[in-house]
Amino acid sequence: TDAVPAPSSDLASRTPPYPKLLARLQEVRRVLAPNRALTLAEKILYSHLEDPAESLLTNTNNGTSIRGTANLKLKPDRVAMQDASAQMALLQFMTCGLPSTAVPASIHCDHMIVGYKGADVDLPESIKGNKEVFDFLESAAKKYGIEFWEPGAGIIHQSVLENYSAPGLMMLGTDSHTPNAGGLGAIAIGVGGADAVDALVDAPWELKAPKILGVRLEGKLSGWASPKDVILRLAGELTVRGGTGSILEYFGPGVDSLSCTGMATISNMGAEVGATTSIFPFSPGHVPYLEATHRGPIAREASQIASLPERHNLLRPDAAAEYDQLVTIDLSTLEPHINGPFTPDLSTPLSRFSEVVETNDWPRSFGAGLIGSCTNSSYQDMTRCESLVKQASAAGLKPKADFLITPGSEQIRATLERDETLNTFSAAGGVVLANACGPCIGQWKRTDEVQKGEKNAILSSYNRNFPSRNDGNRATMNFLASPEIVTAMAYSGSTTFNPMTDSIPTPSGEHFRFNPPQGFDLPSQGFAQGNPQFLPTPGQPDPSVEVQVSPTSDRLALLELFAPFPDTELKGLRVLYKVKGQCTTDTISAAGPWLKYKGHLPNISENTLIGAINAATGETNTAYDVDGKTSGIPDLAKRWKEQGKEWLVVAEHNYGEGSAREHAALQPRYLGGRIILAKSFARIHETNLKKQGVVPLTFANESDYDLLDACDELETVGLLDVLRSGGQGSVELVARKRDGTEVRVQTRHTLSKDQCGFVMAGSALNLLARKAGE
Ligand code: F3S
Repeated sequence: TDAVPAPSSDLASRTPPYPKLLARLQEVRRVLAPNRALTLAEKILYSHLEDPAESLLTNTNNGTSIRGTANLKLKPDRVAMQDASAQMALLQFMTCGLPSTAVPASIHCDHMIVGYKGADVDLPESIKGNKEVFDFLESAAKKYGIEFWEPGAGIIHQSVLENYSAPGLMMLGTDSHTPNAGGLGAIAIGVGGADAVDALVDAPWELKAPKILGVRLEGKLSGWASPKDVILRLAGELTVRGGTGSILEYFGPGVDSLSCTGMATISNMGAEVGATTSIFPFSPGHVPYLEATHRGPIAREASQIASLPERHNLLRPDAAAEYDQLVTIDLSTLEPHINGPFTPDLSTPLSRFSEVVETNDWPRSFGAGLIGSCTNSSYQDMTRCESLVKQASAAGLKPKADFLITPGSEQIRATLERDETLNTFSAAGGVVLANACGPCIGQWKRTDEVQKGEKNAILSSYNRNFPSRNDGNRATMNFLASPEIVTAMAYSGSTTFNPMTDSIPTPSGEHFRFNPPQGFDLPSQGFAQGNPQFLPTPGQPDPSVEVQVSPTSDRLALLELFAPFPDTELKGLRVLYKVKGQCTTDTISAAGPWLKYKGHLPNISENTLIGAINAATGETNTAYDVDGKTSGIPDLAKRWKEQGKEWLVVAEHNYGEGSAREHAALQPRYLGGRIILAKSFARIHETNLKKQGVVPLTFANESDYDLLDACDELETVGLLDVLRSGGQGSVELVARKRDGTEVRVQTRHTLSKDQCGFVMAGSALNLLARKAGE
């Protein structure tokens, strides 16, 4: 079973289209100023443009100021989806009526698996509880030729790294940590389902050209310092917003000393500083990793490209490349860090951590140490942890905190089992969970005594630590560290223990001190394949497969196309709700228990705007109908929908901030929302609204917000012309108040020609479906 290529692997579909990309790079060079130097991220990104001249020259001062300005229309090579977000992506894809996906794609069932007693018990239980969703995903995958990784096969980002990521590739993934694949030289961007559908149907995917933030690595890691500490330290420096609108591009001599999986860990957590993605150049660590994962031919092709002269070199930056911002990190002097609680940018060097714990009165002990996950379950991570466990076991010690291990994939799990690493963990009292997200995404049933609301601490090698992230308890202080630090500290159970300097008393009365961890980048015997049942289904479409959606299901419902825009202005639109203050995507479409309805638009729409504050009364989720009767916002929207009454929402600044959650745009549209009128919008949400056929308008004069009230009846003037002309002109709203008076509100819009087409057709998908049918 060892070191054999996966039977269903299709190397051709997993190899980036290098000849095409190299030719496109030359086209990009021709379009841009002759001597313009490009960063690596620019080379790969711009080589994926549908039409370089159109994207790079329009509105951008002849190609001189692209970053932060140009609107890139991109053609990604591949799409990966996790089970929670794949549901709506596939339901939307199905409405287009295409027989197969336009680019290779994969689905990974990882988010709905609980971490509780261990893989053997947890996996079958979780499959039982989510069977209809998994059956739907599998049947749709088979029908449309998407590779399907069943529950237990692995976590999306680990499976992508082992199978699909490759230098020069561009992929979209329906998960925020998709940039993990940047460790292997890919541009990999986390998106919502509707964006993924763009790529699946061969429509260009739009992105505002990111700025490029250069991270120069110098020196070499040693001792306790690990790749995780690079990003933990960087998060402290950049903060959670520091990477917004930027790609983090790593370069410098320090890169060559890093393993491929170490680079993936660093790229993974670029999401924590808000970066669009992160990327490493082709480097020595890539070749053995590609070979070990049965992709030797890709390693050879990439090596050749990486040795081409600069002008043709797709996989390394130009020597004169300029960065919008530059950060330098010396790996030789890097110290382990611990970040948290509750935010990944609260970064403390290990040597100062006990002092910071005392100062802040954080818990002195912690209940669980969790290692692995998509961020940190590589062979290198796990064998370094194993070396620590062996030292402690030899001294007669057992972990004082619960010790939970999440392998990232079946391949890594089986390899660690064969090489006795998992045995070492289990013998020490560790619990090996399923190859899935589990405690990293709140699917953790804790077995200790901690009660909801009780202040306590945990340590993990994961990537996120906002409140409730792991165990649903907002009082749990979750600290992030490297797996090595988590493992060593689990033996003291104390947050003030520094494994680099402190000792632990052994049963025989001696003082045990850890030596620095040691491990192996890759298994000397190659990777084990593991249980063949966990290999993906082949990516060949089979039209005879029927997609399984039960008409009585409360978790899945097929989508119906939205009606196209009428041949008139919108008349009789009523203000459903005037929102006061912040209105995030979570306010518009709450998460938590609602996540289980992600594939059922009518059911999840029952949460629409339930977090919104009524500007007139200060109440939350309390709407007033024209007769004065109160109800929840979704109930009023449903009632008006039944009456055929369309509506709009009036809101303040940054409407739709927080995430790319497409449900926040889909649900209002489904319930009859036509316009959102706000003081300003979060950019991604504004785009999502247009994709669903909802028109986002902003007040030309902000104080006009005060003129409008719930239940005012509005009519648009000029909207039809704007839509028909591809975005020319502006829209006026004429509002009739309930006392019969009339007010006029001037608005602005950002509708592009394409987006006008979406609104006219009813939604972006309607337009695609129509084109597919032509
Ligand atoms: Fe995401 Fe954690 Fe899974 S970061 S992919 S939830 S392991």
